[in-house]
Amino acid sequence: MNADEMKKMAAEAALTYVKGGIVGVGTGSTVNHFIDYLATIKNKIEGAVSSSEVSTERMKGHGIPVLDLNAAGELDVYVDGADESDHNLSLIKGGGGALTREKIVAGASKEFICIADGSKLVDVLGKFPLPVEVIPMARSHVARQLVKIGGTPVWREDFITDNGNVILDVHNLEITKPIEMEQQINNIAGVVTTGIFALRGADVLILGTEEGVKTVLPG
Ligand code: A5P
Repeated sequence: MNADEMKKMAAEAALTYVKGGIVGVGTGSTVNHFIDYLATIKNKIEGAVSSSEVSTERMKGHGIPVLDLNAAGELDVYVDGADESDHNLSLIKGGGGALTREKIVAGASKEFICIADGSKLVDVLGKFPLPVEVIPMARSHVARQLVKIGGTPVWREDFITDNGNVILDVHNLEITKPIEMEQQINNIAGVVTTGIFALRGADVLILGTEEGVKTVLPG
């Protein structure tokens, strides 16, 4: 079984957490499968709040109503992928560059269901380069601060986020204290969001694996 089949398996399993109402929807190849499954129950939901232009387009293509978060209020459930998860369900996200809107919608949701293939579960976050969204004029300043905390930032050239900002991918971090590092990076002037999701991590991690679907809870 390849990674995409495992992603698809996790995406399908997440449907059981959708009870109706307005669903928060993340971004990425795993979420693309989830959107396709969500379309099969679109008559049971009021609509979705999207975390990216890409997901919005895919949902609209399926005829799923996409709503403004300001009008939707607090959401019952948010479904999104991850680049890495540790066993506490602290995550690295942002490989697709949608981290800021993802963090907003995750924060506005009562339950965060993370869907991924089994390779994303790790003991310590950081092998996947940590994405950090940065205001363009602060790029060099933020990069210098990230070097001071031990990282090797690389500018994701030719990429602009949905919010008009740039991404630094930070290599060589070993994130043993995700909450502390999330706060530390968020405190650098010019940082919009770090791709560490620890202050608000996932509540449930659904993994597609060779042995079938596995559900992981924090701790
Ligand atoms: C998008 O910005 C990311 O946070 C994705 O959720 C993450 O990169 C997972 O993507 P895949 O589902 O494509 O692995």
